[in-house]
Amino acid sequence: MTIIQNTNSTAPADVHSYARPAEAVARHLDLDIAVDFHSHTISGLATYQIENLASTDKIIFDTRNLNIEQVYLGENRAATTFGLGEEDKYLGRPLTISIKPHTSIVTIKYTTQPGAAAVQWLNPQQTAGKQHPFLFTQSQAILARTWIPIQDSPGIRITYSARVKVPATLLAVMSAENPQEKNGEGVYIFRMQQPIPSYLMALAVGDLVFRPLGPQTGIYAEPATIDAAAYEFAEMGKMLIAAEKLYGRYRWERYDLLVLPPSFPFGGMENPRLTFVTPTVLAKDRSLTSLVAHELAHSWSGNLVTNATWNDFWLNEGFTVYFERRIMEELYGKDYADMLEVLGYQDLQKTMQDLGAGSKDTCLKLDLQGRDPDEGLNDIAYEKGNLFLRHIEHVAGRDQFDEFVNKYFNAFAFQSTSTDLFLNFLHQELIKGNKELAQQINPAAWIFAPGLPESFVKPTSRRFAKVEETYRGWKNGQPAAQLNTENWSSHEWLHFIRMLPEQMTAAQMTDLDHTFHFTTSGNSEVLAAWLLLAIRNSYTAADEALETFLANVGRRKFLVPIYKALSATPAGKERALAIYARSKPNYHAVSTVTLDEILK
Ligand code: BES
Ligand code: ZN
Repeated sequence: MTIIQNTNSTAPADVHSYARPAEAVARHLDLDIAVDFHSHTISGLATYQIENLASTDKIIFDTRNLNIEQVYLGENRAATTFGLGEEDKYLGRPLTISIKPHTSIVTIKYTTQPGAAAVQWLNPQQTAGKQHPFLFTQSQAILARTWIPIQDSPGIRITYSARVKVPATLLAVMSAENPQEKNGEGVYIFRMQQPIPSYLMALAVGDLVFRPLGPQTGIYAEPATIDAAAYEFAEMGKMLIAAEKLYGRYRWERYDLLVLPPSFPFGGMENPRLTFVTPTVLAKDRSLTSLVAHELAHSWSGNLVTNATWNDFWLNEGFTVYFERRIMEELYGKDYADMLEVLGYQDLQKTMQDLGAGSKDTCLKLDLQGRDPDEGLNDIAYEKGNLFLRHIEHVAGRDQFDEFVNKYFNAFAFQSTSTDLFLNFLHQELIKGNKELAQQINPAAWIFAPGLPESFVKPTSRRFAKVEETYRGWKNGQPAAQLNTENWSSHEWLHFIRMLPEQMTAAQMTDLDHTFHFTTSGNSEVLAAWLLLAIRNSYTAADEALETFLANVGRRKFLVPIYKALSATPAGKERALAIYARSKPNYHAVSTVTLDEILK
């Protein structure tokens, strides 16, 4: 395999990293670490192969809450001097290491702190099997530096290998070539031979088993979850084939999934070769698998071609949402993909409303200087980004656009790209001096202006039109039992629930619930949407379901609107605080940072 190493010499400055990659940059990482479930620490050696491009006397790494014990240079590990700069709340501290012009190896001996923000340590009770502890990391956006001293910028790529020591009863997996079973010793060796940005560094340790799904795909999960997961994700292989047909060869050999305990703060995380997913997509009917299409699509948009800075986040997520929907269309047809498109558009409208029409945060190109990128990254990048790409597709034609996207992925493979580089490429490879086309696409209006430009293709769905018809019947007083809901998927149910008025009578709530069993729904999307209505309408029959949900599920996307709805009244706020105090140990730091803000 040929791998192009990005020299990064033209990469734009990343305001979220202390590293100066144009001067001295890491190229390869050898990690040698031990995971200690008693002290909740990870400790060991991070050995970097570096390039001292500017013959400087120092190299800078990012750290946050890391104890740096010693730093060595060269194969013989001669001790060198180092310093930790002042602490910034989000960025942590720069680790500045003295090097020589010819230095090519730097070894950092370090230990994490028990509160490392990327890492969640779960006790056995917080897992499906209840027997063994569990650990997982979440590095995106700038949390890799809380468990590895690293040049933590998406504009810098490294290959890596790792030796990870864990309790002998557990299996370790990473965003790398993975073992498929425990070896009895608890020492595992990993290799990632394609250069990746730091936010894709990932580790999970637990009582995990592996189940192959096809020649290239499989699932890691706890034994208690593996059957359900294998059923739910059986079509992963087909998704991979559809993706390759659209945008070219899959460059990472295997594609496996890891199903995490419910505290996982996201729906999914596209760690290369091993997507991490929430168990809340195990709906038993394969209705929520577009999430896998999404994370798989990141194998091109994001992992292969990476946003150079978090201000260019839309390049990762906008392309991925667009690609996700194309995969779903390929597999399940346009009517199906259109439902996802409309639900996404609804999310976008809600986010635009929350941020305010003129908000600069509704531009595709962001300005996150001085802020935690995690707080600035929202549906705008995903859904406005997607609408922009759909708009280009609409104007240029699908074939032309697909050819362009293929070229884009090839031209920037294993490199980072910025909004400006994308714009140049768009002009060079698609617009090609055609003034009318340039005007119709009007990229600047999408990228640098807030809100939505006047001309865009507003998503519509034929299947949802039927849902709306049913809804009108209900609105006109038809009892739930008489409504036509035949063959509805969870997407149709979600659309229906989202249309229901914020204020309903107890009789209406009860009638709907008794007929459609929303409170006991096994579909997390349906249940979360229903719980919002239950809160707003003081529908106490859902109280227990609400508390169980909040006690177990740590997915931020669900928690935030629910806690916000609860906090809308003084009594509700009190209840929210009580539930939060109980449930907080089950949430990852990514979620609690946001919730602390809402509940303060
Ligand atoms: N890469 C994101 C998750 C992420 C974004 C983590 C920003 C940290 C900072 C992942 O691909 C994602 O978008 N997940 C979504 C699911 C998707 C189907 C929209 C999620 O977790 O909700
Ligand atoms: Zn994504």
